Amino acid sequence: MPVALVTGITGQDGSYLAEHLLAQGYRVIGVSRRTSTDVGSRIEHIRADIEVASADLLDQTSLLTLVQRYQPDEVYNLAAQSFVPTSWAQPVLTGEFTALGVTRLLEAVRVAAPEARFYQASSSEMFGKVQEVPQTERTPFYPRSPYGVSKLYGHWITVNYRESYGMHACSGILFNHESERRGLEFVTRKISYGVALISHGARRELRLGNLDAERDWGHAADYVRAMHMMLQRDSPRDYVISTGETHSVREFAELAFRCAGLDWEEFVQVDPTLKRPAEVDQLVGDPRLANEELGWRPTITFPQLVERMVESDLAIVRDEMARGVIRREEPGSRFPG
Ligand code: NAP
Ligand code: GDD
Repeated sequence: MPVALVTGITGQDGSYLAEHLLAQGYRVIGVSRRTSTDVGSRIEHIRADIEVASADLLDQTSLLTLVQRYQPDEVYNLAAQSFVPTSWAQPVLTGEFTALGVTRLLEAVRVAAPEARFYQASSSEMFGKVQEVPQTERTPFYPRSPYGVSKLYGHWITVNYRESYGMHACSGILFNHESERRGLEFVTRKISYGVALISHGARRELRLGNLDAERDWGHAADYVRAMHMMLQRDSPRDYVISTGETHSVREFAELAFRCAGLDWEEFVQVDPTLKRPAEVDQLVGDPRLANEELGWRPTITFPQLVERMVESDLAIVRDEMARGVIRREEPGSRFPG
């Protein structure tokens, strides 16, 4: 039974990747840092099928001990401080997790399991102020946030360990991918959950920042398949993973409200305080190399993604209201983003 070590197991991608690897017959070791409250809701349904080990990207010894103990065949580094606005509020911590954390894990693998195959979760945020459209594996990077800069460090250190030590290490340059399990602070989930609250009469408005930003949005379940495919190649290589389509935040909101039978213009308010110090205006990836060499293709379309997220949140909010977790017109907000 091959052994896969997955950091960031409690996150959106960690949960989908664990499901995928279990279905492929892997022994899955999920890595989680110590927290005072339970962060395991996304993996509750597979908790009996995976093992969860404790380690932190900030702590070199914990990572080395982990790799020594489990001797993984494949290591997927999904852990990161992944929310762009937080990277301006906490730039040094973001660099520690998202940039240097990659070196710590690579060092642990180099020393304790050098034959293991290594996947780094790189990001389309590295393209930032884009230098060409669409973005490919050869497009120059121009990150626009401390998060983007940190991811770029993680990307290049992975390339360097591959070239310096001959490790089977590669990066997936993944464009935005969302799901019913997306964190509430990211714009797609903020919208789908907001639509559900409004539809059930629990809120009257949804405050958003830049409606003109455009993203290449896919579904996380499709994107974790690409991670696994990349590590099955004999020679490691980096790939862009995207749908090849781009849509604005406005389009996402319009469609999401329509799914609930509502007109978005009656409820969405633009809040300038939610705009970013530097924006990534438009992202659109060219997934041809992944199509040709990995045989990877997304299966869930943009309208299907929006519909799935809204349907899921309508059910979640209905349940939360039935249990009294949220009430109609309750003051305050659950939206930090
Ligand atoms: P996510 O939901 O925010 O999950 C991040 C995970 O990282 C969580 O499990 C979190 O654990 C863990 N983590 C954070 N700091 C850690 C630390 N110091 N030590 C150990 N674990 C730590 O992110 P996601 O959407 O699943 O994304 C997965 C990865 O892909 C991230 O690296 C992200 O930057 C990258 N990425 C995402 C996208 C996207 O659109 N989703 C696109 C490109 C790249 P806690 O539960 O304890 O906080
Ligand atoms: N979060 C948020 N909240 N974003 C908003 C809002 C709002 O109220 N209003 C408009 N936006 C815009 C942002 O300005 C940005 O242009 C876009 O919506 C998407 O924002 P997010 O959903 O927060 O995602 P992101 O694109 O910044 O980053 C995500 O994708 C990256 C890949 O490109 C994250 O998952 C990163 O971890 C990932 O690397």
